[in-house]
Amino acid sequence: MIAIDGPSASGKSSTARRVAEVIGFAHLDSGALYRGVTLVALREATRQNRRSDDPLSVLDPETILRAAEDRGLMLQPDGAGFAAYLEGEPADAAIRGTAVTARVSAVSAVPVVREWVNSRLRAMVRAGRDVVVDGRDIGTVVFPDADLKIFLTASPEARAERRIVQRGEEPAPAALEAETAALAARDRADSTRAVAPLRRALDAVDLDTTTMDFEEQVRFIVDRARPIFDLPL
Ligand code: DC
Repeated sequence: MIAIDGPSASGKSSTARRVAEVIGFAHLDSGALYRGVTLVALREATRQNRRSDDPLSVLDPETILRAAEDRGLMLQPDGAGFAAYLEGEPADAAIRGTAVTARVSAVSAVPVVREWVNSRLRAMVRAGRDVVVDGRDIGTVVFPDADLKIFLTASPEARAERRIVQRGEEPAPAALEAETAALAARDRADSTRAVAPLRRALDAVDLDTTTMDFEEQVRFIVDRARPIFDLPL
């Protein structure tokens, strides 16, 4: 099992997915479960006719998690990864929408939500094939015994530029400055929160991708995975 942790917009998910494809593992995106719980919370608040833009202020976490179970929130094996389902319907588009993105950070800071997600992740890994798991606390909290741990970082400026280009926009100086400041603020929040803050596992391999291209990052990880998993060259 390979754990990849790192800050927002460091390219963890796309890197983890490509590494998994190259070495024949499955990619498990732990953020998708936090996003799924957030989607459940938003829908549950709407269903109960409560104000829905801040579900944590109107629903307790146990109610949200019970709804997640009852409504069948799950990640199902799908090709080289897992696809999110809710109420029997594909939910990948909905969990990546702006409403969920705006609330997921608060939902993922709730300790019982983290315990629920962690037990789901552990059950999926026990039951399934070899995986590359990405997140914030995979190598430190969820799978401290991972065979290979990578801590993926890039400077806030590099991450800001990648994010702007990803959105199909021009990385003009003012946009870059605003995005860099927003990322630095999220880094601070993620690294200083009380529960499972983002931090590097002592036995993680550092991968600073500030000056690397995507294929170089993937090769860096695959090269370290080969001897550990006895993969063919
Ligand atoms: O990687 P992402 O943007 O899909 O993550 C969504 C949110 O979940 C983000 O606010 C960080 C949080 N998260 C977390 O706290 N721990 C993880 N292992 C994965 C994600």
